[in-house]
Amino acid sequence: MKKKFLPQSIYYFNSGVDILSSTLQNLKEDEWLNESNITQQTKDIFLHKNIKYSKLYTWINKCLREVHQDLEYESDGLKITISWGNRISLGANFHQHSHSNSIISGVYYLNDTSTPTDFAIEDMWYNNIVDLSGNSRRMVCESFCGKSGDLIIFPSSITHRVDTHQSIESRYTISFNSFPYGKIGGRKSMMNLTVN
Ligand SMILES: [Fe+2]
Repeated sequence: MKKKFLPQSIYYFNSGVDILSSTLQNLKEDEWLNESNITQQTKDIFLHKNIKYSKLYTWINKCLREVHQDLEYESDGLKITISWGNRISLGANFHQHSHSNSIISGVYYLNDTSTPTDFAIEDMWYNNIVDLSGNSRRMVCESFCGKSGDLIIFPSSITHRVDTHQSIESRYTISFNSFPYGKIGGRKSMMNLTVN
């Protein structure tokens, strides 16, 4: 007999149509790098500082406050450090990666997409065993199929990727990284760090 053990969670929100439609229009009109590639990022990697997107980031920051409160991190809050747009066209994918120099990341989905974000963590039964390359049971995987307006917030260290996009309509998302700020730590963690 087996039972599920040590379950994990990610945070999930939806912005509603108002924020979604203005953001998608602005993003489509934004400047994109590598115009010839089928996977592209916006030239601007500080979208959270751009007034055009203020409605979106006011809402995302509200979601981050909720996450911060729920996680009970010893800090004043979570601050977005970098944020950029992604456009994946028909036949493109996005390689497996995690977000370094970040604690909490998020992805905001701007259209209904049949191409999910695939997440993976090491299975606890294999994480101390060497030479298991090619063993499909080594990683525990779960896919998130984002719908328009969905926002997921997850630990930056989790490996994720996007499989080959099969739809004619490009897949638009906005990603961000965040970091705790203010007075970090205290007696409980025996740490005292200030980040502005
Ligand atoms: Fe990512």
